[in-house]
Amino acid sequence: MASTCSASLSLLSITLFSFLISPASSLHEHPLDPLTPEEFSLIRHAVMRSYGASSENVTFHYVGLDEPDKPLIYSWMLNQTDKMPPPRRASVVLRFHEQTHELIVDLSSHRPSIVSKEVYHGNGFPMLTLEEQTAASDLPRTHDQFIRSIEKRGLNMSDVVCACYTVGWYGEPRSRRVMKVLAYYTNGTVNFYMRPIEGIVMVVDLELMKIVKYHDRFATTVPTAEDTEYRLEKQNPPFGPHLKGAAIVQPHGPGFEIKGHTIR
Ligand SMILES: *[C@@H]1O[C@H](CO)[C@@H](O)[C@H](O)[C@H]1NC(C)=O
Ligand SMILES: *[C@@H]1O[C@H](CO)[C@@H](O)[C@H](O)[C@H]1NC(C)=O
Ligand SMILES: *[C@@H]1O[C@H](CO)[C@@H](O)[C@H](O)[C@H]1NC(C)=O
Ligand SMILES: *[C@@H]1O[C@H](CO)[C@@H](O)[C@H](O)[C@H]1NC(C)=O
Repeated sequence: MASTCSASLSLLSITLFSFLISPASSLHEHPLDPLTPEEFSLIRHAVMRSYGASSENVTFHYVGLDEPDKPLIYSWMLNQTDKMPPPRRASVVLRFHEQTHELIVDLSSHRPSIVSKEVYHGNGFPMLTLEEQTAASDLPRTHDQFIRSIEKRGLNMSDVVCACYTVGWYGEPRSRRVMKVLAYYTNGTVNFYMRPIEGIVMVVDLELMKIVKYHDRFATTVPTAEDTEYRLEKQNPPFGPHLKGAAIVQPHGPGFEIKGHTIR
């Protein structure tokens, strides 16, 4: 999949990187500053290294700052000049061989290290990646039953778009990572949400990346494309592009101050 290709590409660039940059924590003005692009690369490198040869099957679902405890931040704020900031760490959620792993990566040295790694056994799944949503939405296009359903309705497949939705969670102790996929029709509009192709519901298993349930319960008319346009440049007055502009003036400058990632 796309995510694994890009992983190995950037592996190359971060190998060069990791020798050049100083410990991540010394670069930061505030312990709550977000992760930098360089830190993302270092984290990916550390994670891939820890999974070794099987790292090609790792997909990242979340990477963010693991915020230090508040007392540590307060203490640093009171005496910033003398104290080192609290240790800088990242929190990572990934999928590996159909399991969710939660990792903490320490970024305070040249070579970031994994300080904890646990398999998550609770309910729910991590956020979806864009790659898997795109792959799931593309499946119907080549699915025989879907092709027949679209033909039966007299619609043109080139104008069909599909989108992923959650199936919800109703208290099942164990569930598969599946998505519901619904279809829409664009012909004549960009606002496809206004033109659902009713009656068709597909369920995609994201681990198998396959349509595992297909329902075509009924066929009905697709709403027309008329008056569904929302783009400003296509609107007619008084909503159209011909409104006169307005300006906001602050003669004494803005009423706030931005320093790094801090706003006062
Ligand atoms: C990655 O997963 C696939 C499918 O489960 C498997 O065939 C392959 O051997 C795995 N690769 C590694 C390096 O673990
Ligand atoms: C700040 O830290 C230094 C060294 O750790 C210490 O000597 C000093 O008393 C501290 N100042 C305050 C206001 O806590
Ligand atoms: C379907 O749409 C495509 C692209 O707009 C067009 O080239 C094709 O002729 C259409 N097919 C039918 C059967 O209308
Ligand atoms: C596409 O839209 C045009 C214009 O509204 C309409 O004439 C045509 O029949 C539509 N084609 C399909 C296949 O829905």
